[in-house]
Amino acid sequence: QYTGRMVVAVDGPSGSGKSSVCRAAATTLGAAYLDTGAMYRAATWYCLEQEVDLDDHKAVAVAVEELPLNISTNPDHQVITVGESDVTAAIRVALISEKVSQVATNPEARALLIAAQRAIIDREGFIVAEGRDITTVVAPDAQVRVLLTASAEARLRRRGAQLGGTQDDEALRRQVLDRDTKDSAASNFTVAADGVAVLDSSELSFQQTVDSLISRVQLAQGAR
Ligand code: DC
Repeated sequence: QYTGRMVVAVDGPSGSGKSSVCRAAATTLGAAYLDTGAMYRAATWYCLEQEVDLDDHKAVAVAVEELPLNISTNPDHQVITVGESDVTAAIRVALISEKVSQVATNPEARALLIAAQRAIIDREGFIVAEGRDITTVVAPDAQVRVLLTASAEARLRRRGAQLGGTQDDEALRRQVLDRDTKDSAASNFTVAADGVAVLDSSELSFQQTVDSLISRVQLAQGAR
């Protein structure tokens, strides 16, 4: 068990398998895990619950400022609460996926959530944190910085398999690519910044991708 401080920052598009890969790697490494996308989702859930107009930038910022968010950093037990409500499942519904970019593109809301993310990372010490701007904005000084990518074809294939292979290909393609366009409005995660390693999972199995991330962390641990 590693006892030093180490931040593992992972960014990537939706459908790259980022969350499951990071969770599995954190479990094996004995590290904490932070899903920053879940924080944007919880903020969106709260705005909708409070009937905040998502086009009203100021109102969204005020709501995010008072957001009573609690997010677990246990990779094997992800629970997200807002006040008394367990929103772990509710933040994954289609309505939230559709609305979340309105919160993610709000600069004030972003600044507040980034500050909260930095506080969690500092508190944990050894943590795998994933999102879209972790390697560049939230934790640019992380010891391990990885951009986890997968070709659009690979992401379409995985998403299709997830849905049971019954859906219309063209609709699925539009869904995955629209999501990329929307997400990159908030932060550009498609090109690796200086010093960020690209881990392309297109031709890798899930376990190979996890192992590749783990070996990068172990290499950095050995170097310290
Ligand atoms: O990874 P996800 O689908 O749960 O992310 C939800 C939304 O939040 C998505 O629109 C991208 C955005 N996001 C972001 O802008 N910055 C992050 N660090 C994480 C997520």
